Amino acid sequence: MKKNKDRVCPVWMAYTFDNPLRKLIHNPKKMFKKYVREGMTVMDIGCGLGCFSIGMAKMVGKKGKVYSVDLQKGMLDRLMKRAGKANIADIIQTHQCSADTIGINEKLDFALAFWMIHETPDALDFLKQIHSILKPAGILFLSDPKMHVSKECFDKTIADAQNIGFQIISKPRIISSRTVVLLKK
Ligand SMILES: C[S@@+](CC[C@H](N)C(=O)[O-])C[C@H]1O[C@@H](n2cnc3c(N)ncnc32)[C@H](O)[C@@H]1O
Repeated sequence: MKKNKDRVCPVWMAYTFDNPLRKLIHNPKKMFKKYVREGMTVMDIGCGLGCFSIGMAKMVGKKGKVYSVDLQKGMLDRLMKRAGKANIADIIQTHQCSADTIGINEKLDFALAFWMIHETPDALDFLKQIHSILKPAGILFLSDPKMHVSKECFDKTIADAQNIGFQIISKPRIISSRTVVLLKK
């Protein structure tokens, strides 16, 4: 079993997948258009360099809010540089969390945990925290990388999510990923 710090994606590695070409396969507008609308409050948990935070900030607009949460300050600093260049920095609020506590209690319409839950020390506890900060009928878009997470392991995460009060609403096909969209019952 790897120690938690060995599982966490370092900043340099995030540049290998979060680059300008990524939009061709992971386009936030296409991926979240059914769930994210203008004026919503959303959270990008384990936001990394922030391609999804920036995409969602454009979708929620000036009346909405994106909370971008990550363990690593280096990720959050780079994300805010990008947001400044895209002129949407005022829509995004960053928060450096600890490995086991998200630490924001704002009520959310939508939460994204993309390629990050397998890096947390206790995925079940993390899911419980996300469940508690979502509004009733709020949505969790959960995705793990196929390269690091087996189907059995992802199915177990889905079963855990169902046990704590999430309902599956879809399993979209996202390249290189195992993905489920969950509704807070
Ligand atoms: C593989 S990267 C994915 C980044 C981003 N979601 C994306 O798809 O580009 C995983 C991210 O999750 C963050 N992370 C890992 N464990 C975390 C935890 N317990 N709480 C918050 N963020 C975490 C890492 O710092 C890293 O930025």
